[in-house]
Amino acid sequence: MKSIKEETNLNNKKILLRLDLNVPLLGDKITDTTRIDKILPTLNFLISQNVKIIIISHVGRPKGKVINELSLKPICKNLEIKLSQNIKLISKDVKEIDGIDLFENDDEKIVMLENIRFYPEEEINNQQFAKHLATLADIYVNDAFSCSHRAHASIDAITKFLPSFCGLQFNLEVVALKKITFKIKKPITCIIGGSKVSTKINIIKNLIPKFDNIIIVGGMANNIIKYTGNNIGKSLQEENINQIIKEIFSLSETTSCRIIYPQDVIVGKNLKDSGQIKELNEISPDDIILDIGPKTISMIKNIIDKSNTILWNGPAGYFENPSFANGSIEIAKKIIENNKSNKIYSVVGGGDTVSLLNSLDSIKDFNFVSTAGGAFLEYLEGKELPGIKALN
Ligand code: 3PG
Repeated sequence: MKSIKEETNLNNKKILLRLDLNVPLLGDKITDTTRIDKILPTLNFLISQNVKIIIISHVGRPKGKVINELSLKPICKNLEIKLSQNIKLISKDVKEIDGIDLFENDDEKIVMLENIRFYPEEEINNQQFAKHLATLADIYVNDAFSCSHRAHASIDAITKFLPSFCGLQFNLEVVALKKITFKIKKPITCIIGGSKVSTKINIIKNLIPKFDNIIIVGGMANNIIKYTGNNIGKSLQEENINQIIKEIFSLSETTSCRIIYPQDVIVGKNLKDSGQIKELNEISPDDIILDIGPKTISMIKNIIDKSNTILWNGPAGYFENPSFANGSIEIAKKIIENNKSNKIYSVVGGGDTVSLLNSLDSIKDFNFVSTAGGAFLEYLEGKELPGIKALN
């Protein structure tokens, strides 16, 4: 994998830059800009090299359709302000941009293509689509480490058609994660939460042989609570995953890895509600599980106390509403406390988890913070990620 910093001949080149600008949005407001802030060094480096930049990114999961709410417009505006540079957002169908110079004049330095996941070709890693994207530039740079677990056209196939490099943040994350996986000290506890259940549930099986404790919270825990015979009301859940949960439990029995899931929860009737503590057998059909309860919090704190390494990905509840933020805040506070007294080494990953820690102003209190969620977990699995493989 070669970093773009190693390329000496960049003058006047056109760079196709893949970024992960998948930031949390509330309407057209960005609620956490960490992923934007982290890629600024790469953009500033490229700007200093007198190149033209074509930014590619996705936001959300539009599944191959144009969804106006998932436009990159607010993100493009934010980046313009941060760089003090005009950035033209190109909304025209990228497949109709053929052999056209995207830059109208010499002063125009940066353009951004509209959400690349508006095109179904992106997620199926379509070669023709990637080849077409490649015609827009001379060099490809991937600074979207948090997308490197996706074999998508702008991550994987594109590297077949252009000289390809990694960006500065991508390189930083890979170097740090490599170091962490080599130096990791047992007992290791992995806390997995968040709402992207389908992305993470399969990964858990592969993590079991590597870790001592896997604590499952957030949306992912709902299916386990249901599997163990409880009602989960209207909570977020994934269809057809009972078999995977069964395998997770039986695999944990054959290894020394404990699987821990909530023993009590906080429910609400909707996302704006105030919270109510409930035992698992008290959940009603119109309840939504939105956080972990106090018994679960003290169980998790106990496990953190007995661990040497904590890897955390995904919040424990719907922290955007303070009524359901307590579980995540208490986990964060316990990790920080043990970190300060040098009892543990802590690594955190994922857009929502980073956003939570930013709201607590405690990013600095963790040993390493990765912008990646799914990619971070898959890296820990020991897999060669498609995005890294393509650059190699
Ligand atoms: C992320 O948020 O982890 C990345 O942007 C990848 O998003 P995805 O899980 O929708 O592929």
